[in-house]
Amino acid sequence: MSRQTILDIFASAEAIIAAGQHEAPILTDLKGMTVANLFYENSTRTWASFNLAAKRLGAEVLDLDIETSSIQKGESLLDTIQTLQAMACQLFVIRHSDADAVMDVAQQVNQDVSIINAGAGMLAHPTQALLDAFTIRQHKPDFSQLTIALLGDVRHSRVAKSLLAIYEKLGVGQVRLVGPEAFMPSEESLGEQLEIFHHVETGLQDVDVVVALRIQKERMAMAEIPNDGHYYREYGLSEEKLALAKPDVIVMHPAPINRGVEIASSVVDGAQSVIFEQVSNGVAIRMALMKILRGL
Ligand code: CP
Repeated sequence: MSRQTILDIFASAEAIIAAGQHEAPILTDLKGMTVANLFYENSTRTWASFNLAAKRLGAEVLDLDIETSSIQKGESLLDTIQTLQAMACQLFVIRHSDADAVMDVAQQVNQDVSIINAGAGMLAHPTQALLDAFTIRQHKPDFSQLTIALLGDVRHSRVAKSLLAIYEKLGVGQVRLVGPEAFMPSEESLGEQLEIFHHVETGLQDVDVVVALRIQKERMAMAEIPNDGHYYREYGLSEEKLALAKPDVIVMHPAPINRGVEIASSVVDGAQSVIFEQVSNGVAIRMALMKILRGL
C-alpha cells in the first residue's frame, strides 16, 4: 500500500466519522454486494468491526463458520473462496495462521474480487496498523516529531510488523523496540530508524506513544512462555513505568489485553489510554478501506 493510499483511507475515514456514518447503518455504498468473512483464527475486534463496517455500508455479510464448514473435510482456502465466488461473494476478509495464505489466494481470484488481509500468521495485520496510525494522527499529527515505543512481544506479533511498515511510510521520527531479548526480532529484519532496549527505564524515557503488546502464547513453545508475574514486574506497563514517558504520552494496545501481564488494568482505563478509541476507529477505517477497494 502506498503512502498516498494510506492518506486517502485516513481522509475517507475522517469523513465517515464526521458524518457519524460509522455508528449507524444508513449508507448504501456497498448495496447489492456480499462480503464474506473467513476467520481461520479467533477474533473479536477485527471480525466484529469488518462485519459492522460492511453492514453499515449496506452490504450483505456472510460469516463462514470455519468449525462447521467443509474446510474440516479438507477443502482448501482457494476452493472455499471459489465456491463462495460462484455464489456472487465479491469481497473476502480473511484471517489465517499461514502467513502466505492470503497473498496466495489474492493472486488467484477473479479480477473483480477483493481480498482483505485480516491477520496473516506472525507476518502482518495491515488494517490494525491503519487504524492505529489513524488514532495516533488524531492526537499527534506530526509523525516526524514522534518517538514511539513498542513494548513487549514484538517477535511473534503480526501487529508489530505492520506497525513498523506503516511508521516507516508515514515518516515516524524514532521507533524503539522495548522488551526481553527473546521477544525482539532478528537484527537483519531491523530498519535504520529502530533501536532495541532491554530495560524499560531507558526504553520508555520521554516517548510520545507507547504500544503495549500481548505475549503471543499461541505462537510460542511452552518452554518459551515467561511467568506472568515475573514478566509483569520486568516489562508490564505500570503507572510507575509510564511516568518515564512524556507527560502527554498516549497508551495504545491492539488487544486482546491480558490485564496485569503486559499492562496494568489502571493504565488500560487511565486518562492516557486511547485503546477504546482504536477500537472505534477500526470500524471507520475498515469502511473506508472497503469503499476505496470498490472504487468509491
Ligand atoms: N486486534 C485484533 O486483531 O483483535 P482480534 O484478534 O480480537 O481481532
